[in-house]
Amino acid sequence: MVSFKELGLSNTKKMFKIALERKFAVPGYNINNLEQLQAIIIGCGESESPVIIQISQGARNYANQTMLQYLGEGGVEMAKELGFNFPIALHLDHGNSFELCKSCIDSGFSSVMFDGSHLPYEDNIKVTQQVVEYAHERDVSVEAELGVLAGIEEDVKSDVHIYTEPGQVEDFVSRTGCDSLAIAIGTSHGAYKFKVAREEDIPELRFDILQEVRTRLGKFPIVLHGSSSVLKKYVDIINKYGGNLEKAFGIPEAQLKKATEFGVSKINIDTDGRLVVTAMVRKILTENPKEFDPRKYLGPARDELIKMIKRKNKEVLGSAGQAKYI
Ligand code: G3H
Ligand code: 13P
Ligand code: ZN
Repeated sequence: MVSFKELGLSNTKKMFKIALERKFAVPGYNINNLEQLQAIIIGCGESESPVIIQISQGARNYANQTMLQYLGEGGVEMAKELGFNFPIALHLDHGNSFELCKSCIDSGFSSVMFDGSHLPYEDNIKVTQQVVEYAHERDVSVEAELGVLAGIEEDVKSDVHIYTEPGQVEDFVSRTGCDSLAIAIGTSHGAYKFKVAREEDIPELRFDILQEVRTRLGKFPIVLHGSSSVLKKYVDIINKYGGNLEKAFGIPEAQLKKATEFGVSKINIDTDGRLVVTAMVRKILTENPKEFDPRKYLGPARDELIKMIKRKNKEVLGSAGQAKYI
């Protein structure tokens, strides 16, 4: 058993308090490997942004939960060594049981998500309450979810969005005691978020629902999942160098920026990072067919990821420069 405090990690309490006051969103970036973690530490360190490093079920299967825990700890030490001073949370993304949340808390995570969005309402409340009770005794933050995102929402296959019902949010938050709430307003996971042929046809997020949730919850942290923008620049590189990503569209950055102005406090980005890495690896290997040293293609991929993270923090989330207030 280890507490996140011994590892130099932060919970999300102060990050969200300041994010709400100063109207920016803390980035939730997912990691599966060393290079993604290094890019997040350097990107957020250089842009002086708080960060929530997210570990999904897929990441645990891929990289081993213990390895990821030590990677998180290594990230904190690396940040110190480079002279950076910004809060880092290590977060379980889409936890699907109390036992999993507990095991992450016991191994040093500073924040966990229990995703009971696919459960009947009362069951979602019941397990979230159980997670909150265990987490809060250890000062760990808890994210919960109401409403289902279309596409891949863990085990749920949904072709339609089940938007968050604003009438439920006060009851849910007060009964569960969660620290932040993920809501469904039209975002979804992955690179194919909309069934449209052209970028111009991407619909607006349901800002009316966001506004109503905000009014009902007051100053309470709201989270958006599935918020990659599926940047055209990288989709085009992938397609140019042998890939085939057709009609891949994400949430336009202008809409995400607008969401931060409506008081969204955390924005989750995974797919955009994956696209950057794939684009760079495809380009470099195609242009250098004799190359076989992974450092020669993963290194430039990591550099491009740093650039993307810094730009997102500054231009979209508004989190750049905010670490000093936390
Ligand atoms: O929430 C979804 C994240 O993008 C993680 O995806 O389960 O494939 O690692 P994953
Ligand atoms: P994207 O697939 O849009 O990057 O969403 C990531 C996410 O929500 C992680 O929980
Ligand atoms: Zn998610």
